[in-house]
Amino acid sequence: MIHKAHFGKRIARYRKQEMWSQAELAERLGVTSQAVSKWETGAALPDIDLLLELSHLYGVSINDLLEDRDILKALSVQSYRPEGAALFDSSAEVHKEWARDMAREGWIARSWQAAKSPEKRDMQEIGRHIAERGGLILELGAGPGGGFTPYILQADPDAAIIVSDMSPTVVGEWKKFLDKELDSPNLSYAAFDYCQIPLRDSCIDIVSDYGGIANAITAKCEPGDKGTALKEAYRVLKPGGLLVTASGFVTKETLAGLPENVQEVLRAERPDVFEDLYEETVLAGFREIDSTVIGYRDTDDDESGVADLARSLGVNLRFTEYVRFCKKQQL
Ligand SMILES: C[S@@+](CC[C@H](N)C(=O)[O-])C[C@H]1O[C@@H](n2cnc3c(N)ncnc32)[C@H](O)[C@@H]1O
Repeated sequence: MIHKAHFGKRIARYRKQEMWSQAELAERLGVTSQAVSKWETGAALPDIDLLLELSHLYGVSINDLLEDRDILKALSVQSYRPEGAALFDSSAEVHKEWARDMAREGWIARSWQAAKSPEKRDMQEIGRHIAERGGLILELGAGPGGGFTPYILQADPDAAIIVSDMSPTVVGEWKKFLDKELDSPNLSYAAFDYCQIPLRDSCIDIVSDYGGIANAITAKCEPGDKGTALKEAYRVLKPGGLLVTASGFVTKETLAGLPENVQEVLRAERPDVFEDLYEETVLAGFREIDSTVIGYRDTDDDESGVADLARSLGVNLRFTEYVRFCKKQQL
């Protein structure tokens, strides 16, 4: 049975990928833009000859247009348990408290709403940029905030995204929420360790990561290998593909402005907060790297472990938040 609404969302995605308006597509097909709008909203299906024409225009088969297919089946190099989300062997429930509280306290719905706030203008702009570039997006370490996913989907609800995290609960909760909110056939959900992404080489157009890689852990909850995660991101990207990664760190200048004894303690106890991952990004293979500062975060305002340490040392630590656009070279 053909799911008309899903068909509509799929063809809308292909059209946006070509950067055509509904009117432009209508002109190519010799139909009205109202007809295109009806197909894309699931109110009607095109005639068989137009379906064939569409499949030629987008370079896909008619089945690709009509059928709901699991994209992970085509791209994964490991087996997985399809329990709502795709659960790979490297997934692990590392956040037992999250798992308990996330659904009960509606974290995902809150993150979705928060992403609409005018205060998040910078993130919304990046989300729009990613959505406009289009193609298949892989969100790494989505977490309860969803990384860039809510911003991308608010810019384009038809975007094609694989939402991933180590935690089956995180991806499961995002699936539950977005199935209700968008019911998009262009979204997939996968739980795996991003240090061993279970996807084949060069199959992703954009990898997005908002504080996922910077907070890398292993399945045993030990510090994870951020360099390996970046290498994996590079591997799965198509040539010319883009890694959009955002995080925060304490700059050398900020550190130098603190009392010497404080610098010493911080360097010894939390060297991770000074890691800007630039070198690891270059080592992963990325050459064109464009960084932009998008804001600052003070430990005075939060309750993290490093904030407690800063308070015990009598200082405020300023994190510089940045986003990096890293391009995989064309062949
Ligand atoms: C601090 S959270 C926050 C970032 C998240 N993007 C957000 O917007 O909420 C980091 C996320 O990265 C995930 N993560 C950490 N190490 C991982 C790994 N090795 N593989 C996959 N996900 C990982 C965690 O499960 C967590 O959900």
